Amino acid sequence: MQSFTDILKRVGNTPQISLSSPKDRVALYAKLEWFNPFGSLKDRAALWMIKDAENRKILKRDQTILLEPTSGNTGIALAGIAKALGYKVELIIPAKASEETKKLIRRLGATLLETDDDLCPRVGPGTDQCIALAEAMIKAHPEKYVMLNQYANESNFYAHYEGTGPEIWSNLRDVTHFIAGVGTGGTLTGVAAYLKKKNPHVKVIGVQPQRAHHIQGLRNLEDSAVPELLRRRIGLIDEWVKVSDSDAFNAVKTLAKTKALFVGPSSGAVYAAAQEVAGKLSEGKLVLMFADDGRKFWSLYDRFKVFTREEFDYYSHYAKYLPPNPLFYEEPITAYHP
Ligand SMILES: Cc1ncc(COP(=O)(O)O)c(C=O)c1O
Repeated sequence: MQSFTDILKRVGNTPQISLSSPKDRVALYAKLEWFNPFGSLKDRAALWMIKDAENRKILKRDQTILLEPTSGNTGIALAGIAKALGYKVELIIPAKASEETKKLIRRLGATLLETDDDLCPRVGPGTDQCIALAEAMIKAHPEKYVMLNQYANESNFYAHYEGTGPEIWSNLRDVTHFIAGVGTGGTLTGVAAYLKKKNPHVKVIGVQPQRAHHIQGLRNLEDSAVPELLRRRIGLIDEWVKVSDSDAFNAVKTLAKTKALFVGPSSGAVYAAAQEVAGKLSEGKLVLMFADDGRKFWSLYDRFKVFTREEFDYYSHYAKYLPPNPLFYEEPITAYHP
């Protein structure tokens, strides 16, 4: 089993693979973010935010508790990275988040507090119980808690401006389009700012799920307010594509059955949006952000009849580009304290 010693060095530099495309002159590429050590693109934001807080000397080992409202992947990433660095974490999560996600977070040693929020914590004043609870706890114990607040933290933007964007550019200097989902907007704005600095003609497409959706990690901007981080640079997004739950789940199935890629629901939404964008182009090179893989979504995929148990087990083991993930093994995970 992987020790935590080197795990933080493995954040970023994820593979960018070529996907077959129905049009000769339109090429699709997918950035496989589940190759990050804790299984999603959120390892990048979590690492950048914790490192920044360390640089600002607001974290004290054995004293500070990191407190964050999250709908899933940020929680897993913060729990894993904080454990590697020796910090305690308490996460406030909507009860609707998948049981698998909660189990992974608990295995990483973080404390979970659940609220009956919608899947995506809302950011409007007074509407979000996750954020309201976090703020109340911080107010009561300011000496104990630090909230990194991924929805407004510039380090979330810089994780992608300094990491993901340059990785995409160095792999594909003639990229014409970047397509990603939006949760906090860190990925979309960070990559957009970098790619547009290199080539102002690059088009950036944001993917939004339908209202009252079931796509963990993504945000519908009519259901909930625009996060501060996205609002600061929203002009960088050239186009928004809306994807229904059923189109996202069908895309998850298509990717598994035709390309042996086993993705999470937000990657399905991104792939469905990319088909729409590619359909309108005569030529182009599109990079798609695939945020996480399908292995922690059995309960969701069962509920929406995306896969049978046999199919799910088959793809969990035999899909292409699926590295063994220590989080999915049952042995205890041991911390590394530098
Ligand atoms: C599965 C998944 N996809 C996409 C995103 C969007 O990322 P960002 O917060 O950078 O907008 C997230 C964020 O949590 C996510 O968990």
